[in-house]
Amino acid sequence: MSSTPYPFDTVPLSSNLATEIVGLDLAHPLTSDTISALREIWVKRGVLVFRDNDLSDEDHIRFANYFGTPSETNTQSDLDRDPRILLISNIREDGKPIGALPDGELQFHSDSAFHEKPLMATSLYGVEVPQQGGDTLFSNTQEAYAHLPADIKERLASLNAVNAYDFKTQVKQGSYDRETGPYAIHPVVRTHPETGEKSIYVNRLMTEEVEGLSKPESDALLEELFEQIEDIEFRYAHAWKPGDLLLWDNRFVQHARTDFPATERRLLRRVGLIGDKPF
Ligand SMILES: [Fe+2]
Repeated sequence: MSSTPYPFDTVPLSSNLATEIVGLDLAHPLTSDTISALREIWVKRGVLVFRDNDLSDEDHIRFANYFGTPSETNTQSDLDRDPRILLISNIREDGKPIGALPDGELQFHSDSAFHEKPLMATSLYGVEVPQQGGDTLFSNTQEAYAHLPADIKERLASLNAVNAYDFKTQVKQGSYDRETGPYAIHPVVRTHPETGEKSIYVNRLMTEEVEGLSKPESDALLEELFEQIEDIEFRYAHAWKPGDLLLWDNRFVQHARTDFPATERRLLRRVGLIGDKPF
């Protein structure tokens, strides 16, 4: 653990990303100095992890507001809840899931990459978590990019890709519908607006094709990039406990979910932060 001049200590959770912040109670407001210090760590390490919190919806939204503007993503039937809170859950009441993205494994992705302006960041709070499985895997896509061979970096510089998503199946269909489904075209390599660092911005769950390449060329290039992102060297795996709050930067971090037993309850609360168009 490293001590800091701020009212918290830091613990790096892997060599390439994710830092645990120890000693802050997020149920109370933070000072502007503390928030600046957290932001500085966050844009370098991509994921902040806080443990043992007991947070209401309001506490969670107050924390998210320190980093940006919460998006109103709750389109679920639970309209009594603040529209800035989205439940991620496999729990069913009267046969209907109470939350979004309910079951099992979810491949690596960057949240809402199929939108013109994807979420800048996501914060997730653990309410009920499985005894085993349902971990969140993270990858630092700046590091993944930095370790690509120079000729591939050069090839990627001018490429754009189509990102789409089917919420019903939660997997890529190999085809997408420009008429009905949301999709967005983004650069294959994006630049972080705050640090200027480049990162890979295609993902296995949502990226359908690289524009201007034949299908076999596009598939081969994407597979190479997905494997690079999924390389264990660039990853951190988070095993959830109730009371964990995580905040990650979707501009250079991708995440995935490991499978978990359908018999186990999983309930997390999400607040996403509005982002800009990737460039
Ligand atoms: Fe996600």
